[in-house]
Amino acid sequence: MNALTHRSPRPGDHPDALAGMRADVLHALATKPRRLPSKYFYDARGSALFERICGQPEYYLTRAELEIMRGHAGAIAQALGPDVLLVEYGSGSGMKTRLLLRHLHAPVAYVPVEIAHEALLDSIVALAKEFPHVEMLPVCADFTRPVALPRPRRAPRRTVVYFPGSTLGNFDAPEALRLLKQMRAEMGRDGAALVGIDLKKDRGTLEAAYNDAAGVTAEFTLNMLARFNRELGADFDLSAFRHRARWNALAGRIETHLVSTRAQAVCVAGHTFRFEADEAMLVEYSCKYSPGEFALLAARAGLQATRAWQDAGNRFSVQLLEAAPRS
Ligand code: AVI
Repeated sequence: MNALTHRSPRPGDHPDALAGMRADVLHALATKPRRLPSKYFYDARGSALFERICGQPEYYLTRAELEIMRGHAGAIAQALGPDVLLVEYGSGSGMKTRLLLRHLHAPVAYVPVEIAHEALLDSIVALAKEFPHVEMLPVCADFTRPVALPRPRRAPRRTVVYFPGSTLGNFDAPEALRLLKQMRAEMGRDGAALVGIDLKKDRGTLEAAYNDAAGVTAEFTLNMLARFNRELGADFDLSAFRHRARWNALAGRIETHLVSTRAQAVCVAGHTFRFEADEAMLVEYSCKYSPGEFALLAARAGLQATRAWQDAGNRFSVQLLEAAPRS
């Protein structure tokens, strides 16, 4: 799993990043119920903690997706065909991107779209070593907004947007639909998207995955507040908030909150915000789909799954999406 897929800006990244984070956080805290953008999990420590989450015994997602890529990268590459322009949402220096690039037949170029400058460079440097014949065309931008794709030296046969890791699940339904429509526009009529989605399963398995016994996920969640303290001069007392992740069966998602354990006031960038005891701030959705539900969502974006691969335990799915025929 690529921890940086979703990493938020740091000073030295995109020039407006810090101001953008300040504005987002002030707006989120001033709006009830409070909802903080999950992209702010991924500072350097958050990214490292996320890597540790991926290795926790309860967090099956990464292992299941890797199992799919290890077992089916050849078939996936064959389905995508030769001379692909591979666009990845997030900077993928991880195993899944490597497996895909290793199996693709004569890929024309690799285009990671990533707002964090440093992560983008790290990924390109790492991949360029292993794939010297693949043109590396990094784009420093927020992948949730439409991106002007660079033109590679050699003309591609098709554009493929790769969005692994169930990161689409971190967006609510309207946002996920908007992102799928954006992918549809970026890949064009003959292109494809390869999207990793986590499948619905029993509450026990899902809640355990987001409440690991070693407490790494709790540390990851609370790290967002530590980041605001450091980068925005906030004074969150980390011992007065706790991590809570619960499965909402009706909405089909894990909802992660930071819960204030007492009545308190917090100062952020010169503004004071009051919290009641037990007040919960939403910090993340992790949406899960059945294949049928995902097909309906994709159809609303003008896409259809032409192939799908699952792990042996049917926990995770990698979906190949192509333009649906116009009705
Ligand atoms: C990055 N994303 C797909 C992870 C997920 O499963 O929603 C982030 C995460 N949050 C807590 N654990 C993992």
